[in-house]
Amino acid sequence: MELPYAEPYKIKMVESIKRSTQEQREKWIKQADYNLFNLDAEKVFIDCLTDSGTGAMSDKQWAAMMVGDESYAGSRSFLELRETVNKITGFDYFLPTHQGRAAENVLFSVLVKEGDIVPGNSHFDTTKGHIEFRKATAVDCTIDEAFDTSVQHPFKGNIDLKKLENVFNAHPIAKIPFIIFTITCNSAGGQPASMKNIKEVSALCKKYHIPLYFDAARFAENAYFIRKREVGYEDMSIKKIVKEMFSYGDGMTMSAKKDGLVNMGGFIALNDESIFKQATVFNIMFEGFITYGGMNGRDMGALSVGLDESTEFNYLESRVEQVAYLGNKLLEYGVPVQQPIGGHAIFLDANKFVPNISREEYRAQALAIEIYVVGGVRGVEIGTVLADRDPVTRENRYPALELVRLAIPRRTYTNNHMDFIAATLKNIYDTRNQAKHGYTIVDEAAIMRHFTVKFEKI
Ligand code: F0G
Repeated sequence: MELPYAEPYKIKMVESIKRSTQEQREKWIKQADYNLFNLDAEKVFIDCLTDSGTGAMSDKQWAAMMVGDESYAGSRSFLELRETVNKITGFDYFLPTHQGRAAENVLFSVLVKEGDIVPGNSHFDTTKGHIEFRKATAVDCTIDEAFDTSVQHPFKGNIDLKKLENVFNAHPIAKIPFIIFTITCNSAGGQPASMKNIKEVSALCKKYHIPLYFDAARFAENAYFIRKREVGYEDMSIKKIVKEMFSYGDGMTMSAKKDGLVNMGGFIALNDESIFKQATVFNIMFEGFITYGGMNGRDMGALSVGLDESTEFNYLESRVEQVAYLGNKLLEYGVPVQQPIGGHAIFLDANKFVPNISREEYRAQALAIEIYVVGGVRGVEIGTVLADRDPVTRENRYPALELVRLAIPRRTYTNNHMDFIAATLKNIYDTRNQAKHGYTIVDEAAIMRHFTVKFEKI
């Protein structure tokens, strides 16, 4: 008999989670104004709101925390982290920040001006927010295949070269400060970009003298997919693949809460000394001194170890294949999900799941609420609510996809939890025709409304 797969780790510490009844959850979600961000975490059984900062650290990371150097300037923990980042990414300059959006804020304060155009592949919402906040425009150049959840394509995070070149030709080059390449592409379903595409995008950027930056939150998962799916990389180490990916860019912003395997942290790494120097000013203004940037010494220590662990094949195999395990169960039950299964999350296609709830009644939000009520599982809407209103017309923006994301925290849940989530979804899917009405918004913020928006049931 062939031996089955088993995780390359054992568990040293556990944390209790609370079960609840459907009746309790119906009451709690109403009290939370039907916004899942508003729920106390204790009222959630399996929390798939995000894979950001919710993972389990290893014994070696906890050990690194104990020997963190908390010096204000020039701490050993900073110097070690800078060396690790250089070794893993190849970028020469490094600035720590307290998380990913802080890295965006610092870097974009240097690079983005009013009226600028920043092309990319389905920019993450904070990235888009930081661009639009500066009265610039984010242009989505993701390949069309990404917007049909049932189309099979190994690299749905790819950038469409024609779309990108059209953007380059339609605007003065001086108005395009850089392009941002998100690996893996969260908004398109945790979908990777191929090395071939990264290389071609890089060549096109060079031709037009436009810098290429990575939004690298899940760069290690991207490298894993390259190794599994792209010819020529099947025997290459993850660290080598990562080095090659970054060699095609000018720099990166990083949310270390994902593939840094830490609960808090981020950074900027880049090659251009002049941009680095300008960024240090904003880092000091917004984040802290340039050798800590909002992070504790101990957190920088844990991040050094985390970056090393997350770029090992055995870790990535257990991580990405657990997500695939859940995805394959859902496919078996006929539940419509973004295919192929992404690296960090399952994306349920609400347009196919609950077509009888209208988009004006936020069908993906309605589905996310139902998943919480039925199973105590918390996911998040990635659809019209998240897309915000158009900054000019103030009309709702209806994105091509209405998704519910179930993000899987790293090294946190077992496959029994995955079975539980799958059963919850099967039960909802089997009774989906009973769903008729969604929700209406009664209160919302002007930008990034999804965090605080309040709904009423229709
Ligand atoms: N870029 C990507 C691709 C992200 O997914 C995130 C965060 C950020 C940037 C911002 O990083 O949270 O550290 O400030 N994504 C989280 C999520 C919030 O749930 O997907 P941050």
